[in-house]
Amino acid sequence: MADGSSRTWQRDHPWAFVYDRISGDPRLGALLWRIGVGSSIDVLHGTAARELARLEPGDTVLDIPCGGGVVLRDLPADHGLRYLAADISPAMLERTRAESRRLGLTGIETVEMDVGALPLDDGAVDLVLTFTSLHCFPDPRAAIGEIARVLAPGGRLALSTIVTDAPWPYRGVWPLGRAAGVLGPGCSRAELRSWATQAGLADVELRPAGGLTYVTATRA
Ligand SMILES: C[S@@+](CC[C@H](N)C(=O)[O-])C[C@H]1O[C@@H](n2cnc3c(N)ncnc32)[C@H](O)[C@@H]1O
Repeated sequence: MADGSSRTWQRDHPWAFVYDRISGDPRLGALLWRIGVGSSIDVLHGTAARELARLEPGDTVLDIPCGGGVVLRDLPADHGLRYLAADISPAMLERTRAESRRLGLTGIETVEMDVGALPLDDGAVDLVLTFTSLHCFPDPRAAIGEIARVLAPGGRLALSTIVTDAPWPYRGVWPLGRAAGVLGPGCSRAELRSWATQAGLADVELRPAGGLTYVTATRA
């Protein structure tokens, strides 16, 4: 269980409060999602399903931040994977456990982790899923470095984030999100590509989807 240096809050991460307003409220949440992200959740599910389908039974997946367990819907009941659903927020992990029960899944390990200091060995993971994520982290470059470190050679990364050079009006989320303490400094597409390459990731592909950028890469 990591108690990372990015923890400055006393009770739980601010996202534990905000998440339900955005993902759980069908009216205000849908509006905020459309204004802030301008993308469809189907892109997330399609990307996750494609990457999960490449794995063999017994492979290890790290889903960080798992949030409310959104990716669990893309797992077959007989997935046979070691699935680590990780988040810095205990409340979000509880939501993931509830979602796992609702879907009748077994073999989901929920673990408190700070993406900036992953308590995992080098090369321990075959697939890292980190969706709607990098813009929330206090040090996105350190997060990329840690994710690359724990990936096995040939292991895959699938990520989505709002970038600082996202098209208008999506980049308008920064002042509000920074003030609310739910967004970090973020990064541009060029920084993202350069940090990933420097961390040892190859075949780095960036695809825009509204205000989000999806990235896939392979550990060299
Ligand atoms: C926008 S939510 C995304 C959750 C999920 N991936 C999704 O797409 O619904 C951001 C999540 O990042 C988590 N988080 C923020 N900082 C983190 C950190 N340093 N390490 C791990 N998780 C973090 C929050 O608790 C929250 O659950």
